[in-house]
Amino acid sequence: MFDEIIDRGNTHALKLERYKNYKDAIPAWVADMDFKSPQCVIDALKKRIEHGVFGYTAVNDGLIKAAINFIKKEHNWDTSKEWFAFTSGVVASMNIVCGMLKENESVITTTPIYPYFLSAPANMKREVTAVRMREIEGRWSVDFDEFEKSIKPNCRLLLLCNPYNPAGTVFTKEELLRFGEIALKYDLLICSDEIHADLVLDKNVKHIPIASLSKQIRERTITLMAPSKTFNIAGLQSSFAIMSNEKLKASFEKSMGHINGGVNLLALTATQAAYEGGAVWLKEVKEYLRENLKLVQEFVQNNPRLKFLKLEATYLAWIDCRELNTDAWKLFLKGGVILNDGKSFGEGGDGFVRLNFAMPKSILKEVLSRMEKAARNVL
Ligand SMILES: Cc1ncc(COP(=O)(O)O)c(C=O)c1O
Repeated sequence: MFDEIIDRGNTHALKLERYKNYKDAIPAWVADMDFKSPQCVIDALKKRIEHGVFGYTAVNDGLIKAAINFIKKEHNWDTSKEWFAFTSGVVASMNIVCGMLKENESVITTTPIYPYFLSAPANMKREVTAVRMREIEGRWSVDFDEFEKSIKPNCRLLLLCNPYNPAGTVFTKEELLRFGEIALKYDLLICSDEIHADLVLDKNVKHIPIASLSKQIRERTITLMAPSKTFNIAGLQSSFAIMSNEKLKASFEKSMGHINGGVNLLALTATQAAYEGGAVWLKEVKEYLRENLKLVQEFVQNNPRLKFLKLEATYLAWIDCRELNTDAWKLFLKGGVILNDGKSFGEGGDGFVRLNFAMPKSILKEVLSRMEKAARNVL
């Protein structure tokens, strides 16, 4: 099913639009998949569209129940209906959370990271400190002593990305407990972006929502989740924040104001259908992604000047090209592959590229063959 090559031309897909001038280059950048969503999602959307009236729509109990059941089943976390606030995106929610701080309060996060972790605080005029991710035992993680030392006295918010974009790390229970302890010690709110939670590829690893660790941690945490990466419906803009602390939720809603008004009704329809009926599809897509990951790993092994640490989740490979001693993003673009430039992920990203491998295998093989040729031509 995932081998099918689907022409995304004429759909204004961002993946193609932004680099229209590079007609023959294969896009392997922005984080969506070149696969069709589960049939249950397509059917539910068709049915809703057939109705023909598309007025303002409320979040219904059935949808929240589907989300609660899905989160329990996937992540063994018990959530409650009152804890949910739907928004049009995780990035929108991150901005809302940054807006909850006072102007003289600051944010701590890590780098290199999904660029909105750095731009959302800046957008809301809050200072951000970004601590470098380190290679620890073959995997990208955090030096917690360094992290703790970097916390400024006015710091009020820890912006956490778990699973981690771009390195694919799934933080362990011990690591999450360290984040939790730090948040308690310095009285920080935690905003945990868990948009990639359902896409853990390493069978020895489990995603743990940080808020599920203890009541104390949960009460200071805003968890951001979404069906968008999981079921490839990013263009529908659906996400939600989960908060058990009533005061925190009131503050989130106040910061949201009417900027993020209602939620798109097709997003609601698709989300409920995916959570109710998408489990088998999800299992299958993860199997396919695991096979694709193997191809990427083999490609890196055959190119000793490239390096790729352990990827536990996501379909985004963070490839270290520093030994090529050239602008790797441009090199691969010239070679016919459009990647994300590591530089755009902030400090520590220079010399890296991010490869999105969620595509039919035949295309991925062509991508890797082009990259191999391009890398071989560097002296
Ligand atoms: C870590 C992370 N957060 C948020 C987003 C975007 O979320 P949304 O489209 O809901 O704003 C992405 C998309 O790539 C992501 O990787």
